[in-house]
Amino acid sequence: MAPPKNERNQVFLGSFIHSKKLDELEYLHNTAVCVDKSGKIVAVEAEHDVEKNLDTLYSKLGWDASNVDVHSTKEGQFFFPGFIDTHIHAPQYPNAGIFGKSTLLDWLNTYTFPMEASLKDLTKARRVYGRCVRKTLSHGTTTAAYYATIDVPATNLLADLCLALGQRAFVGRVCMDNPDMAPADYVDESADASLALTRESIAHIRAIDPDYALVSPVLTPRFAPSCTRDSLRQLGALAAETGLPVQTHLSENVREIELVASLFPEADGYAAVYDGFGLLTPRTILAHAVHLSEAEAGLLARRGSKVSHCPCSNSAITSGEARVRWLLDRGVGVGLGTDVSGGYSPSVLEAARLALLVSRHLAMPHQQPGVSDADRERAKLSVEEVLYLATRGGAEVVGLERRVGAFEVGMEFDAQLIGLGLVEEASAGIKENEGQEDGGEDDGNVDVFGWETWEEKVAKWVFNGDDRNTKRVWVKGRLVHTRV
Ligand code: GUN
Ligand code: FE
Repeated sequence: MAPPKNERNQVFLGSFIHSKKLDELEYLHNTAVCVDKSGKIVAVEAEHDVEKNLDTLYSKLGWDASNVDVHSTKEGQFFFPGFIDTHIHAPQYPNAGIFGKSTLLDWLNTYTFPMEASLKDLTKARRVYGRCVRKTLSHGTTTAAYYATIDVPATNLLADLCLALGQRAFVGRVCMDNPDMAPADYVDESADASLALTRESIAHIRAIDPDYALVSPVLTPRFAPSCTRDSLRQLGALAAETGLPVQTHLSENVREIELVASLFPEADGYAAVYDGFGLLTPRTILAHAVHLSEAEAGLLARRGSKVSHCPCSNSAITSGEARVRWLLDRGVGVGLGTDVSGGYSPSVLEAARLALLVSRHLAMPHQQPGVSDADRERAKLSVEEVLYLATRGGAEVVGLERRVGAFEVGMEFDAQLIGLGLVEEASAGIKENEGQEDGGEDDGNVDVFGWETWEEKVAKWVFNGDDRNTKRVWVKGRLVHTRV
């Protein structure tokens, strides 16, 4: 069941770009990143003649040169850390792009619950989940925090597929035991039954990946309105007992917030509902957090719970604009989520681009009455910042900040090889058909003329790039996607 181990040590050579801190990318050229058989980065050597000095490097590492695979970047290519999707619903993947003019509560009933219920059919689940994992890998997502459905066999199948296809994943059986908030054929029978099924799914994942080296369970109360107090209480106790991560939705939509206030009148706000049941832990991933109060942001910061910002979803189903700068200023960690299929795109690059645009909306003069011009201007996120959120920020959100998100010794090699189209002088006129005519690579919409700085190349990638630029993807040193 476990993915095959790498037989050989590996050296990745060339240009590497990763986040140093929130607003700073580091550009490493002529660099060698050495990855051992376990997938761990054991050396990062940046020196002028690194390629010529590989033998010295191998002897330093005690490596036998005949047992090393070397991967080099070509002109215009660079390695970038794999993306981390901190919030995605695998069973909703067939609905990506289908939402009409709906908003959260009617969207759930119209599109979402029927599709999720239908994945009880394991043949259908295999088809949907297999495609979802492959597709997200092809977009450079090396780690995903998945919601599955209430069905245990289908949830376990998703975990099996992530492991087999080599994607790092958190897989959560969805808990929803409030019959007033669900169709009759898609609801847990009781809080006790819900917890028993959740334990069953945890046991399966522990059996296939005992150390959670690649795939981990995550406790997944759908959102407060879907769960009874009893269920939330039991899940909070299970989080304390097991130390497992928790994921849920928070403060996404105004009508949802009103609904929570009517269902939990005893709580002082939406975030306080979760806190009252012990569900705000340092390993809690809260999707959306669009309409938080100052007190709620303070509560998240004190608890160390993190936010998955889902700008595609928040725009598509008209939920609002999460104030990322405002959250970061208050000490709340933030990563990016595609929220397929509230969000229409499985691409974290698209989420990064939209995070940048949504932050521009917050900066527009008619927005945020009462906020000073300077603070509105500060709301803008840069290319560097959204790429941080897509990698290191996401790693913090899912509790993997020591293991993935950058090219550092001791981290695991989760990476994507990015290629941008170089417009040759002689072929400028025929560039468009080049890929098809000579069988060369299709570099999609990104045209580089050669005079751009690396900062400009990265900006072009963020705004015009897509999966055509993601040439190869590795998780834990294992090649998991090659663009053909
Ligand atoms: N709130 C409760 N369930 C969901 C869901 O599936 N997607 C989103 N975006 N919000 C939710
Ligand atoms: Fe969601």
